[in-house]
Amino acid sequence: IPVDPFTLVVFGATGDLARRKLLPAMLHRDIAGQLPSAARIIGVARRDLGRDGYREMARQSVKGVDAAGTLDAFIERIDYVAADAGDEKGWDGLAALIAERPDDTVVFYLATSPDLFVPIAEKIGAHGLAQARARIVLEKPIGKNAASALTVNEGIGAVFPEASIYRIDHYLGKETVQNLMALRFGNALFEPLWNSSHIDNVQITVAEELGVEGRAGYYDTAGAMRDMVQNHMLQLLCLVAMEPPSSMKADPVRDEKLKVLKALKRVDASNAGQVTVRGQYRAGASAGGAVPGYLDELGTASGTETFVALKAEIGNWRWAGVPFYLRTGKRLPCRVSEIVVTFRQVPHSVFEGETPQPNRLLIRLQPDEGIKLYLMIKDPGPGGMRLKHVSLDMSFAAAFGVRNPDAYERLILDTVRGNQTLFMRRDEVEAAWAWVDPIIEAWQASSEPPKSYTAGTWGPSSAIALVERDGRSWAEADV
Ligand code: BG6
Repeated sequence: IPVDPFTLVVFGATGDLARRKLLPAMLHRDIAGQLPSAARIIGVARRDLGRDGYREMARQSVKGVDAAGTLDAFIERIDYVAADAGDEKGWDGLAALIAERPDDTVVFYLATSPDLFVPIAEKIGAHGLAQARARIVLEKPIGKNAASALTVNEGIGAVFPEASIYRIDHYLGKETVQNLMALRFGNALFEPLWNSSHIDNVQITVAEELGVEGRAGYYDTAGAMRDMVQNHMLQLLCLVAMEPPSSMKADPVRDEKLKVLKALKRVDASNAGQVTVRGQYRAGASAGGAVPGYLDELGTASGTETFVALKAEIGNWRWAGVPFYLRTGKRLPCRVSEIVVTFRQVPHSVFEGETPQPNRLLIRLQPDEGIKLYLMIKDPGPGGMRLKHVSLDMSFAAAFGVRNPDAYERLILDTVRGNQTLFMRRDEVEAAWAWVDPIIEAWQASSEPPKSYTAGTWGPSSAIALVERDGRSWAEADV
């Protein structure tokens, strides 16, 4: 799909996200020949770097990309303005640069701290830059609870219409996440079985090997629930659980996801102790070396969770009684994100002494993106009718042999194209907070601190008990 000439204005241009993700993503799209010749990037940050200074910083940021013939031309696309959300410095210069190209689609990407979202949007509005061809992109977190998300949404909504607001959840830009929709709605095979009559449980694991790295300051105010569950994990749950939308257009998809969020059964102080587990890592071993505990990294006492496991239930006709077990954490044994759908057992075994294991569909988001369908087959050989659980295996790397684009490559170009399907609508963000808030409140009201787990393990033992109590177990991460 062609991309119109555009100006991408990145606020927070000297920050981690812009340098580590946004600039390399744009360069990759340039290499792929997808950027129109007139596309340009204007970095905006407080520092007085000048255009050449920022170009040099950008050059360093994309060093890892093999760009041979494209790099110099890409760097030429970049401009820079020193401006501050708190005063007038730089804004007229930015407005003048944008005015040079009146027909461009202008994407304002706020890769800044969330408390600057509304002040920046207000400045954009005050300088007459929130025009019909302008869009605004917000990174998560949108607020830290329902009330603050509402304030952000109201503040941005006072400047831009909802149709111009793009709330990024970069998990939605991952290839395999989109494949989940292709799998569900592009095949006749799964949908008839995709309900409580045939599915026993769903598990979603997003495990990280890394700790909080240099981000302890932010992370300690968030914790795994706000950092991962409220957004990425609930979005994955929605894609697994939603009804088929009438089309892939933005609102039909987002309407269906919203219905799932609203149907989540409430978890609060009355049941949080039974269906949620929060953990915090202590010193241990990771990637073959000793690593410090969370509190050592933070340098102070904290009750912030670095691990969450929970059992969610969706109170609707399709999913009644099917648990969705979610777990995510830092300093787990490996980096793996996967969705495992376990079907029900056959009603009766006709094979003497053999109990067929349930079919399983495993969708691996990262690393090694792919899909596996576990089936029972006869163990080959003349030794009688012995059964074996084996997988039909579709590895994307093996099947397609192409580089998997980073989520941001897809998402930034979608903002230019005006396609909001993979972005969160305001009511989705607010509904996700409405479900998460009572859980966090219940934790805060409880006198129990998070359970400690050794870095490099699968979280506190109560996370295992959470599933075993129901007569089930976590599907072993298949790495
Ligand atoms: C971010 C979180 O949204 O997602 C990080 O703030 C986390 O804490 C990251 O590490 C994980 O993203 P990915 O794409 O590496 O799985």
